[in-house]
Amino acid sequence: MDGYQEIRVEPLPGGFGAEILDIDLAGPVSDACFDEIRRAFADHSVIFFRDQHITPEQHIAFAERWGDINVNRFFEALPDYPMIAQVRKEPDHAENIGSVWHTDHSYDQEPALGSILLAREVPESGGDTLFASMYKAYEGLSVGLKGMLEGLRAVHSSRHVFGYDGNAGSREGRFQNAERAVQDAVHPVVIRHPETGRRALYVNPDFTVTFEGWSKADSEPLLTYLYRHAASPEFTCRFSWRVGSIAFWDNRATWHKALNDYPGQRRHMHRITISGGPLAA
Ligand code: SIN
Repeated sequence: MDGYQEIRVEPLPGGFGAEILDIDLAGPVSDACFDEIRRAFADHSVIFFRDQHITPEQHIAFAERWGDINVNRFFEALPDYPMIAQVRKEPDHAENIGSVWHTDHSYDQEPALGSILLAREVPESGGDTLFASMYKAYEGLSVGLKGMLEGLRAVHSSRHVFGYDGNAGSREGRFQNAERAVQDAVHPVVIRHPETGRRALYVNPDFTVTFEGWSKADSEPLLTYLYRHAASPEFTCRFSWRVGSIAFWDNRATWHKALNDYPGQRRHMHRITISGGPLAA
């Protein structure tokens, strides 16, 4: 018995991520139901919903129950909906968005709480998203390495991804405001999750640049080791999209990565990101 009364929660095999059933986000979501979704989100770090044919207004209303919306300055917004970022790949595009393991907004001083991604158009096959649990990654480290990481902080940046010195320009106009890619932020390498209190590894291949006070050359071997470790299959789960599917991930406890294995097909997602707060060790 898992104690849920309002929704059904089916954990994915592997012990990371869960599907939420018996819920229609287009209808009114009672406070009791919302509390259970909140509990499932805390317990599973990424939660999935199917067949949610919701309007942009309903998407925004659901997101606003979690906190303020963080409007991402680099993604193109859905026309008339500045709070909704488009994650889009057209049939003639070579690159997709989010193909490198990352956690959204780690380059901000106050990284995002999470993102709610809704599938509007999906390829016939391919285009899955992988998620990795940073709780599991941390817990899977040896006691010695955990101890060594304890006092370390890392520098994260948006410059090399969304700025002029990044490769964002090549993504066929899907990113904007390169001149605003000036955010660098320093966070503990191991954070204590602000809600669950669990320890999580908090570095990621896309946005982490160095350990604080370390050169790039000095940082690289340990970061590379941590990245390989954290992406181990036993810490990950995989989600296959259908139109109307939603994935809602906790940015403080997960990485994600979108697969680019559907050449010549369109994939179109709407993403809303929810503001978070400062992260502490
Ligand atoms: C993202 O990185 O935010 C997008 C992930 C996806 O499209 O699956």
